[in-house]
Amino acid sequence: MVGAADFVGRDIISIKDFTREEIDYILKIAREIEPLARSGSDILKGRIMATLFFEPSTRTRLSFETAMYKLGGSVIGFSEPETSSVKKGESLADTVRVVEKYADVIVLRHPSEGAARFAAEYASVPVINAGSGAEEHPTQALLDLYTILKEKGRINGLSIALMGDLRYGRTVHSLAYALSLYDVRLFLVSPDLLRMRREVLEDIKSRIEIFEHTSIEEILPEIDVLYVTRIQKERFPDLAEYAKVRGSYRIDLNILSKAKSDLIILHPLPRVDEIAVEVDSTPFARYFHQVENGLITRMALLALILGAIKE
Ligand code: NCD
Repeated sequence: MVGAADFVGRDIISIKDFTREEIDYILKIAREIEPLARSGSDILKGRIMATLFFEPSTRTRLSFETAMYKLGGSVIGFSEPETSSVKKGESLADTVRVVEKYADVIVLRHPSEGAARFAAEYASVPVINAGSGAEEHPTQALLDLYTILKEKGRINGLSIALMGDLRYGRTVHSLAYALSLYDVRLFLVSPDLLRMRREVLEDIKSRIEIFEHTSIEEILPEIDVLYVTRIQKERFPDLAEYAKVRGSYRIDLNILSKAKSDLIILHPLPRVDEIAVEVDSTPFARYFHQVENGLITRMALLALILGAIKE
């Protein structure tokens, strides 16, 4: 049986490091800790979290920082590596070996795939991957699952579509892996150029059936959860390729006239133009709810990893 002790001191690098039972346990703790997101608590008093962000972020960093403050802990770190010794040429390995002397947990976002795993090898304190290049974003997947569970009351039995940049979007890589542990019908919808990367596809196909499409319209009437993502312009090696797919998909009220009345639309944010602003005021839109769920899920993770949850 999975219990709180299984998480103490643990790194969160890839969603693949977790079993279905462990994910369900994290979601259960998130549900229990939810009231503390409003009331606050001091269960992590005296503990310090370092956020090392080598890439832009609004939500993920602020969400982790708020989670730590809500639990009574403190935060150090940088979000502009230009102002740290990285600018002087310090290596990631050295940065991590210094920061671990100050902090009880390190939250790292980095443009390189494998950076979080590499940092965890050097750090004696737990490392949480807050985005490693185009590879993974495991805590986003956990908050996405938590949102689905809260909004729909279940994950099993749902028809879920992941739409957009499935090639360079790290959130959809982690989410697809996580969903493949459940009994869902998974639809992958993207322009050909942005199809799900092969290693993710092969892995998830070994567990569940996948349906790939280039347009959402034909399948929308069957879908319970539509997860839309931004085209990750900054990750294209060649901007001519980006120009070919730019603006190639967009969810608006017209398309949604074909949707189930209880469809929910999620998006990791930031949104650019892939969901029309007119959708925001409809009951379909749940992407701003995800932000609150991110705070709750990260509170649960920090409390678990730092040993503040007792059985
Ligand atoms: C995402 C990311 O950084 O991967 N943002 C987030 O953390 N919610 C998605 C994106 O940048 O498109």
